[in-house]
Amino acid sequence: MSQARVLVIGSSNTDLIVQSPNLPSPGQTVMASSFSSLPGGKGANQAVAAARSGAIVSFVARIGSDAYGSQALCRLEAEGIDTNFVMKDPDLPSGIASILVDDTGENVIAVVPGANAALSPVQIDAAGSLFERVSICLLQLETPLPTVLHAANLAKEHGVPVILNPAPARKLPPQLLSGLFLVTPNETETGILTGILPETEKTARQAADVLMDGGVNNVIITLGARGALLATDREAVMVPAPAVVARDTTGAGDAFNGALAAALGRMRSLRDAVDFANCAGALAVTRVGAQAALPREAEIRALMDARTQSQPPR
Ligand code: RIB
Repeated sequence: MSQARVLVIGSSNTDLIVQSPNLPSPGQTVMASSFSSLPGGKGANQAVAAARSGAIVSFVARIGSDAYGSQALCRLEAEGIDTNFVMKDPDLPSGIASILVDDTGENVIAVVPGANAALSPVQIDAAGSLFERVSICLLQLETPLPTVLHAANLAKEHGVPVILNPAPARKLPPQLLSGLFLVTPNETETGILTGILPETEKTARQAADVLMDGGVNNVIITLGARGALLATDREAVMVPAPAVVARDTTGAGDAFNGALAAALGRMRSLRDAVDFANCAGALAVTRVGAQAALPREAEIRALMDARTQSQPPR
């Protein structure tokens, strides 16, 4: 099967991760168990996830001219990702995410965007040649909205399908959603985008309908351990995720989206791609960190095979 060519445009951060038995309440101090500094950022994580899932990946981002930025760049290059359009901002620092993770794998995250906030439409134009050689474009919302909108429009002009992972959650202008190949909100993001919380399959379908009425071609609502609802103009189906023990849910959505883009760029069916992405997300939550936890294609396929073999014959 040929390799997908994926263009990821988005953020790069360094994650400062504290693991603690419990997450503190406001005003409370808790004693934590460990600290680590690891590469992160939704854009960079998704680029790495796509590369580890077998895609040829180009990444467009903005980092600081500091040690965090240099480390992030080295990690991306070590993954074989094309970083020709990852620019160093002369003034702003690299993005930072302060992350607390508890023993159940739940997290709270605060991001200081730094140079990510200066990723501009001009920088996207400078990378415009990339749109001529990719099969899919993957965007998120950790960079300025006008830049995301500009990138989506450029992709549409070039006939490149766009996946928008609308994270972190925020309301979006109709002109961004209209004409997107796919949006992939989680439960919270779905609530903010549609006003409907996807607590049941029925409400998830209703929320997907709202997004499709807004001009999105396909919708995948990720529902954590429950899997994902895939809605197209022909069907709305639940695609279950394999059961795993979660250690850290940071970056699970990024694992899902990167793997999805890699699978779709290889022209798999949407349903098969969601299954592949569910398995990638499930593997990612069994390990600590965002990029550090992202699985490789062979592991994802092994989980898919193991699950198939453990199912009773029909
Ligand atoms: O999606 C997880 C990511 O969100 C982390 O790596 C952190 O950097 C924040 O951007």
